[in-house]
Amino acid sequence: MACTITIPGIIRLVLVKKPDEMVAVNDASMVGRSLSGRGGVMNRWIAAKLAVFRAPDGDIWPAFRDQLDPLRAARQAALEVALSNVGPLLQRIAPEIVELGSYVRNGVARRNTGVIVQQAVGRLFFTDYAASEESYEAARTLQTWLSAWPLRAYRIRRSGALQASLDRIMDLSRGDMACAHATALAMENLVKSVELMRRLARHGDNLAKIEPQDALAHSLRAPVRVVREARDEVRAGPVWLPSRSLVLLAVESARRQHPVPSFAFFASAWNRCPAHSIVPALLAGVWQAARADTRGRA
Ligand code: HEM
Repeated sequence: MACTITIPGIIRLVLVKKPDEMVAVNDASMVGRSLSGRGGVMNRWIAAKLAVFRAPDGDIWPAFRDQLDPLRAARQAALEVALSNVGPLLQRIAPEIVELGSYVRNGVARRNTGVIVQQAVGRLFFTDYAASEESYEAARTLQTWLSAWPLRAYRIRRSGALQASLDRIMDLSRGDMACAHATALAMENLVKSVELMRRLARHGDNLAKIEPQDALAHSLRAPVRVVREARDEVRAGPVWLPSRSLVLLAVESARRQHPVPSFAFFASAWNRCPAHSIVPALLAGVWQAARADTRGRA
């Protein structure tokens, strides 16, 4: 059952964890991604935190745009088409897949796996995208910013690291906000998956025994949570949402209860991830690359 926390003037929040409740809340037209900041000081503070994900001209990053925003929907559809070209895209990032496969197999890599993943994701957009320790650090700073409590967030902003990270990610993304989203925020789900594949490969003859699709199913991770706001009081399926409540969809928790890959990507919903085909193929490719080498050595 969804959990509601209301402390007048401080916070108005609903946490949704169950898959069927999440589907209903996500689909409700009164529930949006844009945050007014009303409902309490915490609501205001979280709205201000998410407001930084904008281009210098004010354009908003894709995962913070509303369902009915026509620009969001058009860009999502165009990217989904571009990323459905799975075979050629996997060819393009074959060097990164081999590098990650080698890490899964041996537990060592020439570069930080985060840098390799960021470069693979960036090259889905630009063939010459070059990630570095600095660009991955920028992504980590933005991820930390999203989950940081007030004191930590204050320090990140005050130090200048927040703006520097946004600038670095946007520069490398050449103004493409889907690329910025993917190389700063979405990529971390892939880093987690590669680490989980490495753990799986360490045990016994798992690498030889487990098929890529099963390794993928075992390792895929969804975003821990995504944020919404209920504009008006509304009932979404079994969940009652007070007006101006902050809504946290605990996607990874729901995915565990309903562990099919498409659920991690909201693949049947308006907000489906445009990378819902390429990401599973990429991860299966990493496991395959790790195994291919095992066979090569045998
Ligand atoms: C394991 C990896 C990934 C997972 C589990 C994942 C999952 C998701 C989820 C759950 C959403 C919806 C978020 C929300 O409604 O607030 C989303 C949105 C999005 N994802 Fe992914 N994603 C992954 C990787 C990627 C990659 C690699 C790209 C790009 C190459 C990408 C591009 C996007 C974009 C642009 C959106 C916003 C769609 C829109 O509403 O316009 N994602 N993703």
